Amino acid sequence: MKEQDKPKICLSLTGTTIAEDLRILERYRSLVDYVELRADCLDPSERFYIRSFPEKAGHPCILTIRRRQDGGKFEDGEGVRLVLFAKALSFPMADANANYAFVDLEHDFRAPVVEEACRTFGTRIIRSFISRTGLPENLDTAYENLTQEEDEIPKLVVHPQNSAEFIRFLEWSQRRPKRAQILIANGPYGLASHLLAWRFGSLWTYASPRQCGKETTAPDLFDPLDLVNIYNFDLVDADTVIYALIGQHSITQSLSPYLHNTAFRKMGKNALLIPTPVDSFSDGLRILELLGGKGAAITVPFKEDVLPFLSFHSTDVQRIGACNTLVWRNSSWAGYNTDADGFERSLLEFMGKQDISGCRATLVGAGGAAKSIALALFRKGARVLILNRTYSAGRDLARKYNFSYAHLDDRAADQISEYSNLIVQATSVGMKGEGDPINFYEFKGSEMVFDLIYHPSKTALLKRAEAAGCRTINGYKMLCYQAAGQYKLWMNEPPPEIYAQLEQPELS
Ligand code: ATR
Repeated sequence: MKEQDKPKICLSLTGTTIAEDLRILERYRSLVDYVELRADCLDPSERFYIRSFPEKAGHPCILTIRRRQDGGKFEDGEGVRLVLFAKALSFPMADANANYAFVDLEHDFRAPVVEEACRTFGTRIIRSFISRTGLPENLDTAYENLTQEEDEIPKLVVHPQNSAEFIRFLEWSQRRPKRAQILIANGPYGLASHLLAWRFGSLWTYASPRQCGKETTAPDLFDPLDLVNIYNFDLVDADTVIYALIGQHSITQSLSPYLHNTAFRKMGKNALLIPTPVDSFSDGLRILELLGGKGAAITVPFKEDVLPFLSFHSTDVQRIGACNTLVWRNSSWAGYNTDADGFERSLLEFMGKQDISGCRATLVGAGGAAKSIALALFRKGARVLILNRTYSAGRDLARKYNFSYAHLDDRAADQISEYSNLIVQATSVGMKGEGDPINFYEFKGSEMVFDLIYHPSKTALLKRAEAAGCRTINGYKMLCYQAAGQYKLWMNEPPPEIYAQLEQPELS
């Protein structure tokens, strides 16, 4: 792909005043190629000044006045909108930088006067169709309705309601002949269409400041800083090797893309990990294959669902019964699990010793995460008590390694005391910022407490343990080390130190 063909970043400005929009542009000027003035978001009194915006912005500008029915804020009639377009595009200057470079007109807004003026004075028309929920039944028809004039840029925006709809959109976009166009899927299912604008043949991707005033005005868009710093938008091209993080909606909060993409950039790898929220593992795999991906990080709740799709299961996958890493090898998928090793490395660092045999540990939980922890503790020779809400699941896991087990309730307090050198919390309790699965247990202060949760960075359990004088750690380092293991498998080389060095960033 030639440099000039690479997708660009367009900053969408949704402030209520022109001055506010210009202030925001200043923050991002060096990162973005175009700016879109969303004039529908301006206070009505500010509309009188939209003609001078391109000159003030000093960046190629797009004018959009989005109606409420299309997801915008414009509520006056079409007559008023026509006048605003005419005003903004009137009195064209000899210096093209003082004029709008593009104007966004919806497919059903036909205004020959405006269109003729645009063509004469060099403002390109973006012809847009926005489907606010779901996809049009026939994407070809919707697209063809947009592309009646050769010189217009068709822009099709859809809002997939599930991963199957996103797959339909992706398959369709891949069949389309390439031309100057913009194809976007909004919402969590459509993230890939923003991050991989070049795979969708889009001229640019839209970005928006994370917080615009009090309300987030464009929640579907990435902040330009995230696009560049987390998703290497300036580096990716048609040759970039794709890796996917396959999980449910909550993965949009995951730090895995930040870790891996930082490592890829640092090591000069033309690779990118994208979050792929899906409803089923098979949908995630389909998306990965459509994008020609070479590997994946698998997370909750698909670590077991992936097993039937593997042609190779590593020893850890077989022992744990779950897989967190896919590698494309010999034309099929090989499955690995780096969780047990990742936990072991962070645990030994935390405990400050390599030999923890005989350590008496309580493991709270018996789900997917706990299964990897149990294997790691078994390998290191710890003596373990497993506590779980569902007794049978705790019992089954404990029996595998000859561990003790009990039901997770206040009757277990005395047993915890006997297994209290180390306490590992591996349930999902505490993720929402509250809840402590062993609130019945009183810390002595000598326990070392490991909570696998890293968001929030301190759960209620960790806060209580710290207050009692215990040493504590959250799951961030384990995340880093299991990610380092994934890098090694994907790149077939030792992981860079960056995985051990990156500090946990603040999450909103
Ligand atoms: P993960 O892959 O994150 O471990 P999981 O396999 O669904 O997810 O396991 C979640 C763990 O959290 C299980 O041990 C679960 O206990 P159950 O086996 O009884 O389901 C535990 N868990 C979830 N919610 C819980 C709650 N409110 N109280 C106690 N344990 C809970």
